[in-house]
Amino acid sequence: MSQPQFRTPKGTHDVLPEDHQYMTYIKKAVRHRARQAGFRRIDTPMYENKAIFERGIGEHTDIVEKELFLVTSKQREAEEKEAEFALRPEFTAGICRSYIEHGMQQLPQPVELYAIGQCFRHDRPQKGRYRQFHQFDMEVIGLKDPSIDAQLIQVIMNIFKDIRIADRLQLHINNIGTAENRVAYTEALKDFFIGKERNLPEIDRDRLTTNPLRLLDSKEEDTQILLKSAPTFEQFLDEESKAYHKTLLEYLDTLDIEYIENPKLVRGLDYYTQTVFEFQDKETGAQNAVGGGGRYDGLIELFGGQPTPGVGFAGGIERMVWHMKQAGVKAPHKDQVDVFVAQLGPEAKKECLKLITGLRDKGVHTLGALGEASLKSQMRLADKFEARYTLLLGKMEVKTGTIILRDMAAGKQQEIKYKDAISKVIELLGKDNLDTYTIRDRFVEVDED
Ligand code: HAM
Repeated sequence: MSQPQFRTPKGTHDVLPEDHQYMTYIKKAVRHRARQAGFRRIDTPMYENKAIFERGIGEHTDIVEKELFLVTSKQREAEEKEAEFALRPEFTAGICRSYIEHGMQQLPQPVELYAIGQCFRHDRPQKGRYRQFHQFDMEVIGLKDPSIDAQLIQVIMNIFKDIRIADRLQLHINNIGTAENRVAYTEALKDFFIGKERNLPEIDRDRLTTNPLRLLDSKEEDTQILLKSAPTFEQFLDEESKAYHKTLLEYLDTLDIEYIENPKLVRGLDYYTQTVFEFQDKETGAQNAVGGGGRYDGLIELFGGQPTPGVGFAGGIERMVWHMKQAGVKAPHKDQVDVFVAQLGPEAKKECLKLITGLRDKGVHTLGALGEASLKSQMRLADKFEARYTLLLGKMEVKTGTIILRDMAAGKQQEIKYKDAISKVIELLGKDNLDTYTIRDRFVEVDED
Protein backbone atom coordinates (compact mmCIF):
# COMPACT_ATOMS: atom_id res chain seq x y z
CA MET A 1 0.00 0.00 0.00
CA SER A 2 1.33 3.46 -0.81
CA GLN A 3 1.96 5.95 1.98
CA PRO A 4 -0.98 8.30 2.49
CA GLN A 5 -0.25 11.85 1.45
CA PHE A 6 -1.97 13.31 4.50
CA ARG A 7 -2.16 12.09 8.07
CA THR A 8 -3.79 13.38 11.24
CA PRO A 9 -1.79 16.21 12.83
CA LYS A 10 0.59 15.17 15.60
CA GLY A 11 -1.22 14.51 18.86
CA THR A 12 -4.64 14.11 17.24
CA HIS A 13 -6.43 10.93 16.25
CA ASP A 14 -9.44 9.74 14.31
CA VAL A 15 -12.15 8.26 16.46
CA LEU A 16 -12.94 5.22 14.36
CA PRO A 17 -16.30 3.43 14.53
CA GLU A 18 -14.94 0.73 16.90
CA ASP A 19 -13.88 3.39 19.39
CA HIS A 20 -17.17 5.21 19.01
CA GLN A 21 -18.84 2.15 20.47
CA TYR A 22 -16.93 2.83 23.68
CA MET A 23 -17.39 6.58 23.52
CA THR A 24 -21.13 6.29 22.93
CA TYR A 25 -21.41 3.97 25.91
CA ILE A 26 -19.46 6.39 28.10
CA LYS A 27 -21.53 9.36 26.96
CA LYS A 28 -24.69 7.41 27.71
CA ALA A 29 -23.52 6.68 31.25
CA VAL A 30 -22.57 10.35 31.73
CA ARG A 31 -25.91 11.63 30.42
CA HIS A 32 -27.86 9.14 32.46
CA ARG A 33 -26.07 9.79 35.76
CA ALA A 34 -26.02 13.56 35.17
CA ARG A 35 -29.77 13.63 34.52
CA GLN A 36 -30.48 11.53 37.60
CA ALA A 37 -28.67 14.16 39.68
CA GLY A 38 -30.38 17.21 38.13
CA PHE A 39 -27.60 18.33 35.78
CA ARG A 40 -28.51 20.00 32.49
CA ARG A 41 -26.38 19.99 29.40
CA ILE A 42 -24.49 23.02 28.17
CA ASP A 43 -22.22 23.60 25.17
CA THR A 44 -19.80 26.49 25.12
CA PRO A 45 -17.76 27.54 22.07
CA MET A 46 -14.65 25.58 21.19
CA TYR A 47 -12.74 28.84 21.35
CA GLU A 48 -13.02 31.71 23.76
CA ASN A 49 -11.31 34.95 24.56
CA LYS A 50 -7.89 33.76 25.63
CA ALA A 51 -7.91 36.07 28.68
CA ILE A 52 -10.55 33.77 30.19
CA PHE A 53 -8.06 30.92 30.30
CA GLU A 54 -5.13 33.10 31.27
CA ARG A 55 -6.98 34.61 34.18
CA GLY A 56 -9.03 31.58 35.17
CA ILE A 57 -6.57 28.72 34.88
CA GLY A 58 -3.60 30.96 35.69
CA GLU A 59 -0.87 32.58 33.61
CA HIS A 60 1.88 30.47 35.10
CA THR A 61 0.21 27.09 34.77
CA ASP A 62 1.51 24.63 32.18
CA ILE A 63 -1.83 24.72 30.38
CA VAL A 64 -1.67 28.45 29.75
CA GLU A 65 2.06 29.00 29.59
CA LYS A 66 2.83 26.19 27.16
CA GLU A 67 -0.26 24.46 25.91
CA LEU A 68 -2.78 27.00 24.60
CA PHE A 69 -3.67 26.77 20.92
CA LEU A 70 -4.12 30.37 19.85
CA VAL A 71 -6.74 31.12 17.22
CA THR A 72 -6.03 33.75 14.66
CA SER A 73 -7.32 34.57 11.20
CA LYS A 74 -5.91 35.92 7.97
CA GLN A 75 -7.56 39.21 8.74
CA ARG A 76 -5.93 39.51 12.13
CA GLU A 77 -2.58 38.50 10.69
CA ALA A 78 -2.88 41.32 8.20
CA GLU A 79 -3.57 43.72 11.03
CA GLU A 80 -0.58 42.26 12.87
CA LYS A 81 -2.56 42.00 16.04
CA GLU A 82 -1.99 39.39 18.64
CA ALA A 83 -4.41 36.47 18.68
CA GLU A 84 -7.37 37.21 20.90
CA PHE A 85 -8.80 33.74 21.11
CA ALA A 86 -7.67 30.31 22.17
CA LEU A 87 -9.12 26.83 21.73
CA ARG A 88 -10.57 25.65 25.01
CA PRO A 89 -8.12 23.52 27.00
CA GLU A 90 -10.98 22.63 29.41
CA PHE A 91 -14.61 23.55 30.12
CA THR A 92 -14.70 25.16 33.56
CA ALA A 93 -13.57 28.67 32.59
CA GLY A 94 -16.00 28.84 29.64
CA ILE A 95 -18.92 27.54 31.71
CA CYS A 96 -18.26 30.14 34.42
CA ARG A 97 -18.11 32.84 31.75
CA SER A 98 -21.46 31.57 30.47
CA TYR A 99 -22.98 31.51 33.99
CA ILE A 100 -22.25 35.23 34.32
CA GLU A 101 -23.13 36.16 30.73
CA HIS A 102 -26.59 34.56 30.97
CA GLY A 103 -27.41 35.80 34.46
CA MET A 104 -27.66 32.27 35.82
CA GLN A 105 -27.35 33.60 39.36
CA GLN A 106 -31.08 34.43 38.96
CA LEU A 107 -31.88 30.72 38.62
CA PRO A 108 -32.52 28.47 41.63
CA GLN A 109 -29.09 27.58 43.04
CA PRO A 110 -27.05 25.53 42.67
CA VAL A 111 -26.97 25.49 38.89
CA GLU A 112 -25.79 22.06 37.76
CA LEU A 113 -24.32 21.88 34.29
CA TYR A 114 -22.53 19.24 32.31
CA ALA A 115 -20.72 19.21 28.98
CA ILE A 116 -19.15 16.63 26.69
CA GLY A 117 -16.75 17.57 23.93
CA GLN A 118 -13.28 18.18 22.59
CA CYS A 119 -10.55 20.11 24.37
CA PHE A 120 -7.16 21.17 23.05
CA ARG A 121 -3.76 21.31 24.72
CA HIS A 122 -0.51 21.68 22.85
CA ASP A 123 1.27 19.19 25.05
CA ARG A 124 4.04 16.77 24.09
CA PRO A 125 2.05 13.80 22.78
CA GLN A 126 2.54 10.49 24.56
CA LYS A 127 0.43 7.56 25.69
CA GLY A 128 -2.89 8.91 26.98
CA ARG A 129 -1.89 12.49 26.25
CA TYR A 130 -3.24 14.11 23.11
CA ARG A 131 -3.47 17.58 21.65
CA GLN A 132 -7.14 17.09 20.91
CA PHE A 133 -9.06 14.94 23.35
CA HIS A 134 -12.54 14.57 24.83
CA GLN A 135 -13.69 15.47 28.30
CA PHE A 136 -16.95 15.08 30.11
CA ASP A 137 -17.30 17.92 32.56
CA MET A 138 -19.69 18.54 35.46
CA GLU A 139 -20.06 21.79 37.39
CA VAL A 140 -22.19 22.69 40.44
CA ILE A 141 -22.30 26.47 40.81
CA GLY A 142 -23.92 28.80 43.34
CA LEU A 143 -23.98 26.93 46.64
CA LYS A 144 -21.27 25.67 48.94
CA ASP A 145 -21.51 22.71 51.25
CA PRO A 146 -19.39 19.59 51.73
CA SER A 147 -22.48 17.53 50.88
CA ILE A 148 -22.39 19.04 47.37
CA ASP A 149 -18.77 17.96 46.89
CA ALA A 150 -19.67 14.50 48.20
CA GLN A 151 -22.66 14.16 45.86
CA LEU A 152 -20.59 15.19 42.87
CA ILE A 153 -17.96 12.58 43.72
CA GLN A 154 -20.72 9.99 44.09
CA VAL A 155 -22.12 10.77 40.63
CA ILE A 156 -18.65 10.40 39.08
CA MET A 157 -18.06 7.19 40.98
CA ASN A 158 -21.30 5.80 39.56
CA ILE A 159 -20.21 6.68 36.03
CA PHE A 160 -16.94 4.79 36.54
CA LYS A 161 -18.90 1.86 37.98
CA ASP A 162 -21.32 1.88 35.04
CA ILE A 163 -18.49 1.57 32.55
CA ARG A 164 -16.81 -0.99 34.83
CA ILE A 165 -13.51 0.72 35.49
CA ALA A 166 -14.11 1.83 39.11
CA ASP A 167 -12.02 -1.06 40.46
CA ARG A 168 -8.99 0.14 38.54
CA LEU A 169 -9.09 3.64 40.03
CA GLN A 170 -8.29 5.29 43.32
CA LEU A 171 -9.82 8.51 44.57
CA HIS A 172 -7.20 10.91 45.95
CA ILE A 173 -8.46 13.90 47.90
CA ASN A 174 -7.00 16.97 49.58
CA ASN A 175 -7.92 20.43 50.81
CA ILE A 176 -5.70 23.30 49.68
CA GLY A 177 -7.40 25.97 51.77
CA THR A 178 -8.56 29.45 50.86
CA ALA A 179 -6.74 31.81 48.49
CA GLU A 180 -5.21 33.52 51.57
CA ASN A 181 -3.97 30.19 52.94
CA ARG A 182 -2.36 29.49 49.59
CA VAL A 183 -0.60 32.86 49.51
CA ALA A 184 0.74 32.35 53.04
CA TYR A 185 1.89 28.82 52.31
CA THR A 186 3.47 29.84 49.00
CA GLU A 187 5.50 32.48 50.84
CA ALA A 188 6.58 29.95 53.44
CA LEU A 189 7.67 27.53 50.69
CA LYS A 190 9.65 30.22 48.94
CA ASP A 191 11.33 31.18 52.23
CA PHE A 192 12.17 27.57 52.91
CA PHE A 193 13.90 27.19 49.56
CA ILE A 194 16.02 30.35 49.92
CA GLY A 195 19.63 29.15 49.67
CA LYS A 196 18.50 25.70 48.52
CA GLU A 197 17.61 26.62 44.93
CA ARG A 198 20.79 25.07 43.56
CA ASN A 199 19.69 21.67 44.83
CA LEU A 200 16.45 21.82 42.87
CA PRO A 201 16.19 20.38 39.34
CA GLU A 202 15.89 23.16 36.75
CA ILE A 203 12.17 22.61 36.08
CA ASP A 204 11.37 23.05 39.79
CA ARG A 205 13.69 26.02 40.16
CA ASP A 206 11.53 27.74 37.55
CA ARG A 207 8.37 26.65 39.29
CA LEU A 208 9.64 28.13 42.53
CA THR A 209 9.34 31.57 40.98
CA THR A 210 6.24 31.02 38.84
CA ASN A 211 4.06 28.49 40.64
CA PRO A 212 5.70 27.18 43.85
CA LEU A 213 2.74 24.99 44.84
CA ARG A 214 3.47 22.73 41.89
CA LEU A 215 6.63 21.64 43.70
CA LEU A 216 4.41 19.54 45.95
CA ASP A 217 3.33 17.16 43.20
CA SER A 218 6.71 17.34 41.42
CA LYS A 219 7.86 14.06 39.91
CA GLU A 220 11.51 14.97 40.65
CA GLU A 221 13.06 12.84 43.37
CA ASP A 222 15.44 15.58 44.58
CA THR A 223 12.52 17.95 45.07
CA GLN A 224 10.55 15.37 47.01
CA ILE A 225 13.54 14.72 49.31
CA LEU A 226 13.91 18.44 50.06
CA LEU A 227 10.19 18.76 50.66
CA LYS A 228 10.36 16.25 53.51
CA SER A 229 11.66 18.99 55.80
CA ALA A 230 9.62 21.83 54.24
CA PRO A 231 6.57 23.35 55.95
CA THR A 232 3.39 21.42 55.08
CA PHE A 233 0.20 22.81 53.67
CA GLU A 234 -1.75 21.60 56.64
CA GLN A 235 0.06 24.03 58.95
CA PHE A 236 -1.38 26.91 56.93
CA LEU A 237 -4.97 25.74 56.56
CA ASP A 238 -7.54 27.85 58.37
CA GLU A 239 -10.00 26.25 60.76
CA GLU A 240 -12.91 26.56 58.33
CA SER A 241 -11.06 24.62 55.61
CA LYS A 242 -10.06 21.92 58.08
CA ALA A 243 -13.63 21.56 59.32
CA TYR A 244 -14.97 21.57 55.74
CA HIS A 245 -12.59 18.79 54.77
CA LYS A 246 -13.37 16.71 57.84
CA THR A 247 -17.10 16.91 57.13
CA LEU A 248 -16.60 16.04 53.47
CA LEU A 249 -14.62 12.93 54.44
CA GLU A 250 -17.39 11.96 56.87
CA TYR A 251 -19.93 12.27 54.06
CA LEU A 252 -17.78 10.13 51.78
CA ASP A 253 -17.66 7.52 54.54
CA THR A 254 -21.45 7.69 54.82
CA LEU A 255 -21.70 7.04 51.10
CA ASP A 256 -19.19 4.15 51.34
CA ILE A 257 -16.81 5.89 48.98
CA GLU A 258 -13.20 4.87 49.46
CA TYR A 259 -10.52 7.57 49.21
CA ILE A 260 -6.89 8.27 49.94
CA GLU A 261 -6.02 11.50 51.71
CA ASN A 262 -3.17 12.91 49.66
CA PRO A 263 -1.57 16.09 51.07
CA LYS A 264 0.59 16.40 47.94
CA LEU A 265 -2.35 16.74 45.60
CA VAL A 266 -2.54 20.38 44.42
CA ARG A 267 -3.69 19.99 40.77
CA GLY A 268 -2.38 22.07 37.91
CA LEU A 269 -4.98 24.82 37.66
CA ASP A 270 -4.87 28.03 39.72
CA TYR A 271 -8.59 28.47 40.30
CA TYR A 272 -8.87 25.78 42.94
CA THR A 273 -9.71 26.54 46.56
CA GLN A 274 -10.22 24.00 49.35
CA THR A 275 -11.40 20.64 47.97
CA VAL A 276 -9.29 19.04 45.22
CA PHE A 277 -9.59 15.44 44.08
CA GLU A 278 -8.39 13.14 41.35
CA PHE A 279 -9.15 9.63 40.14
CA GLN A 280 -5.81 7.97 39.57
CA ASP A 281 -4.85 4.67 38.03
CA LYS A 282 -4.23 2.22 40.91
CA GLU A 283 -1.20 0.82 39.12
CA THR A 284 0.57 3.86 37.69
CA GLY A 285 -0.60 6.67 39.98
CA ALA A 286 -0.81 10.35 39.15
CA GLN A 287 0.87 10.26 35.74
CA ASN A 288 -2.28 9.62 33.78
CA ALA A 289 -5.22 10.58 35.97
CA VAL A 290 -8.55 9.57 34.49
CA GLY A 291 -10.14 12.71 35.86
CA GLY A 292 -9.85 15.44 38.41
CA GLY A 293 -11.67 18.36 39.91
CA GLY A 294 -12.28 20.55 42.88
CA ARG A 295 -13.73 23.79 44.27
CA TYR A 296 -13.21 27.15 42.64
CA ASP A 297 -14.95 29.59 44.98
CA GLY A 298 -13.15 32.67 43.65
CA LEU A 299 -13.37 32.08 39.89
CA ILE A 300 -16.69 33.71 39.06
CA GLU A 301 -15.76 36.83 41.03
CA LEU A 302 -12.43 36.87 39.20
CA PHE A 303 -14.43 37.06 35.95
CA GLY A 304 -16.39 40.05 37.23
CA GLY A 305 -19.42 38.20 38.61
CA GLN A 306 -20.91 38.22 42.12
CA PRO A 307 -18.89 36.11 44.57
CA THR A 308 -20.21 32.63 43.76
CA PRO A 309 -18.86 29.27 44.89
CA GLY A 310 -18.47 26.33 42.54
CA VAL A 311 -17.21 22.79 42.38
CA GLY A 312 -16.63 20.56 39.38
CA PHE A 313 -14.88 17.70 37.72
CA ALA A 314 -13.68 16.59 34.30
CA GLY A 315 -12.94 13.08 33.10
CA GLY A 316 -10.72 12.25 30.12
CA ILE A 317 -12.78 10.11 27.76
CA GLU A 318 -9.82 8.61 25.83
CA ARG A 319 -8.32 7.48 29.12
CA MET A 320 -11.66 5.98 30.16
CA VAL A 321 -11.81 4.05 26.87
CA TRP A 322 -8.27 2.80 27.48
CA HIS A 323 -9.23 1.52 30.93
CA MET A 324 -12.33 -0.20 29.56
CA LYS A 325 -10.18 -2.01 27.01
CA GLN A 326 -7.59 -2.94 29.62
CA ALA A 327 -10.35 -4.31 31.84
CA GLY A 328 -11.67 -6.37 28.92
CA VAL A 329 -14.99 -4.53 28.92
CA LYS A 330 -16.80 -4.85 25.63
CA ALA A 331 -18.99 -1.82 25.07
CA PRO A 332 -22.50 -2.96 24.23
CA HIS A 333 -23.53 -1.35 20.97
CA LYS A 334 -26.20 -1.42 18.33
CA ASP A 335 -24.07 -1.49 15.21
CA GLN A 336 -25.02 -5.03 14.15
CA VAL A 337 -26.55 -5.64 10.71
CA ASP A 338 -29.89 -7.44 11.11
CA VAL A 339 -30.77 -7.88 7.47
CA PHE A 340 -28.94 -7.72 4.19
CA VAL A 341 -31.16 -7.29 1.14
CA ALA A 342 -29.86 -8.81 -2.10
CA GLN A 343 -31.52 -8.44 -5.50
CA LEU A 344 -31.19 -9.19 -9.15
CA GLY A 345 -32.80 -7.36 -12.05
CA PRO A 346 -34.28 -3.87 -12.42
CA GLU A 347 -37.76 -4.79 -11.13
CA ALA A 348 -36.35 -6.50 -8.06
CA LYS A 349 -34.12 -3.51 -7.40
CA LYS A 350 -37.12 -1.16 -7.30
CA GLU A 351 -39.00 -3.45 -4.94
CA CYS A 352 -35.95 -3.76 -2.73
CA LEU A 353 -35.68 -0.01 -2.32
CA LYS A 354 -39.18 -0.05 -0.83
CA LEU A 355 -38.41 -3.10 1.28
CA ILE A 356 -35.23 -1.58 2.72
CA THR A 357 -37.04 1.62 3.70
CA GLY A 358 -39.88 -0.39 5.24
CA LEU A 359 -37.50 -2.49 7.34
CA ARG A 360 -35.52 0.53 8.53
CA ASP A 361 -38.70 2.37 9.53
CA LYS A 362 -39.62 -0.56 11.75
CA GLY A 363 -36.23 -0.38 13.48
CA VAL A 364 -34.47 -3.20 11.63
CA HIS A 365 -30.82 -2.44 10.82
CA THR A 366 -30.77 -3.03 7.10
CA LEU A 367 -28.10 -2.94 4.42
CA GLY A 368 -28.88 -3.31 0.76
CA ALA A 369 -26.61 -4.18 -2.12
CA LEU A 370 -28.14 -2.09 -4.84
CA GLY A 371 -25.30 -2.41 -7.32
CA GLU A 372 -25.24 -4.83 -10.23
CA ALA A 373 -23.17 -7.60 -8.58
CA SER A 374 -24.11 -11.27 -8.95
CA LEU A 375 -26.25 -12.87 -6.25
CA LYS A 376 -23.28 -14.97 -5.19
CA SER A 377 -21.04 -11.98 -4.54
CA GLN A 378 -23.90 -10.20 -2.77
CA MET A 379 -24.19 -13.19 -0.45
CA ARG A 380 -20.47 -13.04 0.23
CA LEU A 381 -20.88 -9.39 1.15
CA ALA A 382 -23.75 -10.24 3.51
CA ASP A 383 -21.41 -12.68 5.21
CA LYS A 384 -18.66 -10.09 5.55
CA PHE A 385 -21.09 -7.63 7.14
CA GLU A 386 -22.08 -10.41 9.55
CA ALA A 387 -25.76 -9.92 8.73
CA ARG A 388 -28.10 -12.20 10.71
CA TYR A 389 -30.54 -12.65 7.82
CA THR A 390 -30.51 -12.08 4.09
CA LEU A 391 -33.57 -11.37 1.98
CA LEU A 392 -33.10 -12.37 -1.65
CA LEU A 393 -35.26 -11.05 -4.43
CA GLY A 394 -34.61 -12.24 -7.99
CA LYS A 395 -36.57 -11.94 -11.21
CA MET A 396 -38.53 -15.13 -10.46
CA GLU A 397 -39.55 -14.04 -6.99
CA VAL A 398 -40.80 -10.69 -8.27
CA LYS A 399 -43.09 -12.56 -10.67
CA THR A 400 -44.44 -14.95 -8.05
CA GLY A 401 -44.71 -12.39 -5.22
CA THR A 402 -42.25 -14.30 -3.05
CA ILE A 403 -38.85 -13.67 -1.48
CA ILE A 404 -36.14 -15.91 -0.07
CA LEU A 405 -35.24 -15.50 3.59
CA ARG A 406 -31.87 -16.92 4.62
CA ASP A 407 -30.65 -17.45 8.16
CA MET A 408 -26.95 -16.78 7.72
CA ALA A 409 -25.64 -18.56 10.83
CA ALA A 410 -27.76 -21.66 10.30
CA GLY A 411 -27.18 -21.63 6.54
CA LYS A 412 -30.88 -22.41 5.99
CA GLN A 413 -33.34 -20.65 3.74
CA GLN A 414 -37.06 -20.61 3.03
CA GLU A 415 -39.33 -19.02 0.49
CA ILE A 416 -41.95 -16.71 2.01
CA LYS A 417 -44.57 -14.34 0.66
CA TYR A 418 -43.05 -10.98 -0.30
CA LYS A 419 -45.76 -9.08 1.58
CA ASP A 420 -44.95 -10.96 4.79
CA ALA A 421 -41.20 -10.25 4.61
CA ILE A 422 -41.13 -7.38 7.12
CA SER A 423 -43.38 -9.02 9.71
CA LYS A 424 -41.47 -12.30 9.43
CA VAL A 425 -38.12 -10.56 10.02
CA ILE A 426 -39.56 -8.72 13.03
CA GLU A 427 -40.89 -11.98 14.43
CA LEU A 428 -37.47 -13.61 14.07
CA LEU A 429 -35.54 -10.71 15.58
CA GLY A 430 -38.01 -10.18 18.42
CA LYS A 431 -39.82 -6.89 18.98
CA ASP A 432 -37.50 -5.97 21.88
CA ASN A 433 -34.49 -5.96 19.60
CA LEU A 434 -35.80 -3.35 17.20
CA ASP A 435 -34.03 0.00 17.08
CA THR A 436 -37.00 2.31 17.32
CA TYR A 437 -37.80 5.60 18.91
CA THR A 438 -41.19 7.14 19.44
CA ILE A 439 -42.28 10.61 18.43
CA ARG A 440 -42.47 11.49 22.13
CA ASP A 441 -38.77 10.69 22.56
CA ARG A 442 -37.99 12.75 19.55
CA PHE A 443 -39.68 15.83 21.04
CA VAL A 444 -37.87 15.36 24.33
CA GLU A 445 -34.53 15.14 22.50
CA VAL A 446 -35.26 18.35 20.60
CA ASP A 447 -36.22 20.12 23.82
CA GLU A 448 -33.05 19.08 25.57
CA ASP A 449 -30.65 19.90 22.80
P1 HAM B 1 -7.61 18.45 34.26
O1 HAM B 1 -7.05 17.62 35.37
O2 HAM B 1 -6.71 19.40 33.60
O3 HAM B 1 -8.86 19.18 34.88
O4 HAM B 1 -8.23 17.49 33.15
C1 HAM B 1 -9.19 16.50 33.48
C2 HAM B 1 -8.89 15.21 32.76
O5 HAM B 1 -8.83 15.43 31.34
C3 HAM B 1 -7.55 14.59 33.08
O6 HAM B 1 -7.60 13.88 34.30
C4 HAM B 1 -7.34 13.68 31.88
O7 HAM B 1 -8.06 12.47 32.04
C5 HAM B 1 -7.96 14.48 30.76
N1 HAM B 1 -6.89 15.15 30.01
C6 HAM B 1 -6.27 16.31 30.30
N2 HAM B 1 -5.33 16.61 29.39
C7 HAM B 1 -5.33 15.60 28.50
C8 HAM B 1 -4.60 15.31 27.30
N3 HAM B 1 -3.66 16.13 26.84
N4 HAM B 1 -4.89 14.16 26.61
C9 HAM B 1 -5.84 13.31 27.06
N5 HAM B 1 -6.58 13.54 28.17
C10 HAM B 1 -6.34 14.65 28.89
C11 HAM B 1 -9.66 20.05 34.18
O8 HAM B 1 -9.68 20.13 33.00
C12 HAM B 1 -10.62 20.81 35.07
N6 HAM B 1 -11.38 21.73 34.21
C13 HAM B 1 -11.52 19.91 35.85
C14 HAM B 1 -12.53 20.65 36.66
C15 HAM B 1 -13.82 20.88 36.36
N7 HAM B 1 -12.28 21.29 37.81
C16 HAM B 1 -13.37 21.89 38.22
N8 HAM B 1 -14.33 21.68 37.34
